[in-house]
Amino acid sequence: MRQAKITAYAKINLVLDVLRKREDGYHEVAMVMQAVDLSDTIRLKEADRNWITTNNRHIPMNMNNLAMRAVTLMQREFPGKVPKIEVSLEKHIPVSAGMAGGSTDCAGVMLGINKMCNLDLTRKELELLAAQLGSDIPFCIGGPTALATGRGEIIEPLPDCPELHLVIVKPPFGISTPKVYGNLRADEIVEHPDVQACIRGLEAKDKQRILDAMGNVLEESTFELQPKVKTIKNGMSACGAKHVLMSGSGPTVFAAFAEKAEAEVYYNQLKPQYPGAILTRTVNKEQLEERVDLYDQRT
Ligand code: C5P
Repeated sequence: MRQAKITAYAKINLVLDVLRKREDGYHEVAMVMQAVDLSDTIRLKEADRNWITTNNRHIPMNMNNLAMRAVTLMQREFPGKVPKIEVSLEKHIPVSAGMAGGSTDCAGVMLGINKMCNLDLTRKELELLAAQLGSDIPFCIGGPTALATGRGEIIEPLPDCPELHLVIVKPPFGISTPKVYGNLRADEIVEHPDVQACIRGLEAKDKQRILDAMGNVLEESTFELQPKVKTIKNGMSACGAKHVLMSGSGPTVFAAFAEKAEAEVYYNQLKPQYPGAILTRTVNKEQLEERVDLYDQRT
C-alpha cells in the first residue's frame, strides 16, 4: 500500500450572501469561495487501526474529528477497498476561524484515500460524498475558485481568480457557525452583495471589480455576538486597507490587495498591532492540482 501526503488549503469567501432560511434549518446561500495559500499537511498510511496524530492541541484526537469521519465514510462506502488508516495532521490553518480548516482536512483525506486506494472517483462523486459531512467540504474537494449555492454544497467552478494578496487576522477566540446563522434574521437583510458582479470580475480577470464586489452578510450577525470582530475589521480598515472582509462566519478578517507590494507595506504596518497576522495570496488551479502526492510505504 502506498502512502499519501496532501496539502489541504484554507479558503476565504470573496462573497457570502444568504438568500433565505430553509425549512430544514439551513440557509440558502450564494458564495464565491476562493482557496488561499495557507495549508495543513496531511499524511495517510495503512495501519492496524484507524487513528490520528496532530501537532495541535485544540483538535479532537478521536473519531469526531472531521478528518477521521472522512476515513470511516470512505471505509463504509467502499468496503474491502479502504484499509484502516493512520492520519497525521500538521495544522497551520487557524482552528475555528471561518477558513474551512476542518473541512479542508476532511476533503484532503477523501482525496488522498481516492488516490491511494485507486478508487477513481470523479470530483463530482467525491463532492456528493463530502456533502454528507458538512456544507463547506465539497468546495474543498474542488476549488480553487467556485460558486457555492444550496446550503453551500452545490459547487460550480469559476474561472481562476487573478492573484490577490491577502493579510489575514485570526482573533484569539473562535465563533460557532450555528450560532452565527441562528442569530441571523435572513428576511431583514437590506443590502445583499452582488455575487454576479464578482463572477463578471473573475471572468474578465479584473482584480478591481472582484475587490469592489466583496461582501459578507454574516458580518452583522457575528459582530452582534462578538463585537471584537467589528473592532478588528475597523482597525484593519483604519490601517490603510480599502477591501476588508470577514471570512465565512468569522471570526477571521482579511484585507485583500491587487498588488503584492501594497499587501507587504500594509502587512508591515499592521504587524505591531496584530503580531499573528498572516500574509498570503490566492491559489490557482495549477497549484491545487499538485496537492496529492503518493509514495511507497516503507515497512
Ligand atoms: O453543514 P455544516 O455542518 O458545516 O453546518 C454547520 C451549521 O451551520 C448547521 O448546522 C447550521 O446551523 C448552519 N448552517 C446554516 N446554513 C448553511 C450552512 C450552515 O444554517 N448554509
